[in-house]
Amino acid sequence: MIRMTLDEIAEITTGHLVNADPAATVTAAVEYDTRALQPGGLFVAFAGERVDGHDFAAAAVAAGAVGVLGTRDTGQPGIVVDDPLRALAALATVAVRRLPELTIVGLTGSSGKTTTKDYIGQLLARLGPTVAPAGSLNNELGFPYTVLKADPATRFLVLEMGARGIGHIRYLTDMTRPRIGVVLNVGAAHIGEFGSVEGTAQAKGELVEALGEDGVAVLNADDPLVAAMASRTAARVVFVGESETATVRAVDVTLDERGRAAYTLITPAGSAPVRLAVTGRHQVGNTLAAAAVALEAGMAPTAVAAALGEVGVVSGRRMDVFDTPGGVTVIDDSYNANPSSTAAALRALAALGAGRRTTAVLGYMAELGQFETSGHEEVGRLAAELGVDRVIAVADNAAPILDGAATVPAWKGEAVLAADQAAAVAVLRGDLRPGDVVLVKGSRYRTWEVADALRADPATQEVSP
Ligand SMILES: Nc1ncnc2c1ncn2[C@@H]1O[C@H](COP(=O)(O)OP(=O)(O)OP(=O)(O)O)[C@@H](O)[C@H]1O
Ligand SMILES: [Mg+2]
Repeated sequence: MIRMTLDEIAEITTGHLVNADPAATVTAAVEYDTRALQPGGLFVAFAGERVDGHDFAAAAVAAGAVGVLGTRDTGQPGIVVDDPLRALAALATVAVRRLPELTIVGLTGSSGKTTTKDYIGQLLARLGPTVAPAGSLNNELGFPYTVLKADPATRFLVLEMGARGIGHIRYLTDMTRPRIGVVLNVGAAHIGEFGSVEGTAQAKGELVEALGEDGVAVLNADDPLVAAMASRTAARVVFVGESETATVRAVDVTLDERGRAAYTLITPAGSAPVRLAVTGRHQVGNTLAAAAVALEAGMAPTAVAAALGEVGVVSGRRMDVFDTPGGVTVIDDSYNANPSSTAAALRALAALGAGRRTTAVLGYMAELGQFETSGHEEVGRLAAELGVDRVIAVADNAAPILDGAATVPAWKGEAVLAADQAAAVAVLRGDLRPGDVVLVKGSRYRTWEVADALRADPATQEVSP
């Protein structure tokens, strides 16, 4: 974060100082977890339902925090405000104004924001100091938190932007307006809140509406709802995708035996071959978006292509492919799930599992609202169409996946309903064999226990390939 005195912070946040030396200066980042605090940082206390951050005020100061920003006097030096989230927003707004040299990249979409943010961060880091922290920091807390990580040495700030409704992205762009805005795709994520994909497109497009004439909108030419956002922006538009209309384009896409794509990157400044190290056909679009940002930042196409070959997913449980010592390949994609991202993961399973026995362990997909049943059926149907050998639905609320699979008459695979994660692990343990490929996918929470069990499972490790 840029240096600010507690007095300045109180003024910016319209809070009042308590127990504090007004001239005490914050020199390190804002944190809401005392374990992450650096000496000179600012601790923000939130009163959550289970944990009250104010209880950690003394620990924060002991860990080096200059002050505590919260809603009450904790007895520690600090600033008392009405709403710590609004306070962070105000601080973020002022902080970027004091960093005029910073190039700010914002990205949104239904699936792949964190993944692509990680790629953009890795590419831009080759050009200069870049802030793009790991994880999914895309809401009214994570966004200003990330903004406040930038300091005068930072050249690039990469911001993930999430939306669960109309106006959410506008709230973020009002706080910090990006110069480059990327929209990846519009799918069924959080569709329960939006009601329709058109509603989702309306909300995601707020990002490009916020860009100025000096800005750049990077839009997915292959997604009609995203491409149509070109009419909603004053910024210059760069289309990315496999369509002929794309300015930054992938042609001759192939997949290797690990489901990793290779393609020729075509840009106005030249072409170069790309060979990705990350799994999944959907990474073509994600990496093209990252390429477009890097090209805008001044990187040459050959450098972009070479760097793309080295990018990985920094934030865990997204297309994390590993082999157990027992010779089973596991795709841990259990961070989150919606019908679009599950489709992408199933396609990766099919590509990686060609000629091998494939199992999809699929948990419940949250936030689908009225599309809950149809969304689950849809992914089950796709799994069957792709010829996945075994589909294990985890818990009753995921059972419609099996109903969907059953609608494909030609499917010869096995459908299993596991009562919970432990039951799914028990099914797998019973008969995994070397060469098997297992996808683990669901909406966070506990689905990843299955992947962790496979990673640690002696039963899969004892088998020798
Ligand atoms: N372009 C894509 N299309 C479909 N699925 C994708 C795409 N990119 C990544 N995914 C998958 O979507 C899931 C979520 O990925 P990621 O965390 O990057 O997305 P996100 O948009 O940040 O999600 P969230 O809304 O939870 O923040 C992962 O399983 C990932 O493999
Ligand atoms: Mg995310």
